[in-house]
Amino acid sequence: MTGKQTAENLMAKSPLETVDSEDILKAAFGAGTRRFDIVRRHGAQVAARALQIAAGLESASVDMNFLHTAAMLHDIGIVKTATPQLDCHGDQPYARHGIIGRQMLETLGLPDLALVCERHVGVGITIADIRERGLPLPLRDMRPVTMEEKLICYADKFFSKTNGQPENAKSAADVARHLERYGRRQAETFIRWAARFEGLLLTLDDD
Ligand SMILES: [Fe+2]
Repeated sequence: MTGKQTAENLMAKSPLETVDSEDILKAAFGAGTRRFDIVRRHGAQVAARALQIAAGLESASVDMNFLHTAAMLHDIGIVKTATPQLDCHGDQPYARHGIIGRQMLETLGLPDLALVCERHVGVGITIADIRERGLPLPLRDMRPVTMEEKLICYADKFFSKTNGQPENAKSAADVARHLERYGRRQAETFIRWAARFEGLLLTLDDD
């Protein structure tokens, strides 16, 4: 679990076995809506890949129940963004979906799951990224810390929400190339995870 927690958070923390991600998503997105189907399908894809990786990791201990629930809920914040292509009609910029998700899950008394939302965007966002790119985010470090947070952040990069058919999963090389557009740190972080989590050896083109 994550390091810094307030006493209030600890008191509000629900036992994870009582958390039903499906019910939480239904309440937020509305059962039967296209946005619900999109977020549930995407969450299930991320969960499957993260769980498969975790099962094969020899040296790390991973909370599988937490990993599954967190994967299903990591994008809950999109519901409040202005992203009509995902059938989401809020007023917030998409770049804020991580911190919105954090706020939503904290309100439900789920501070550890909340941090997964905040820390899954890209390969995690640094204060320098927020400053340099002028992102509409508070100035704090939003990189994944725990193994569960890293696995979800990594697995998420393979699956599009707008083009979510299973056969459309991106290759690791495609993901690395895409991330390089945002910066070398982004691509290198992903490449390190690909080696550690899936034994994939990727390199960046030096041109
Ligand atoms: Fe995602």
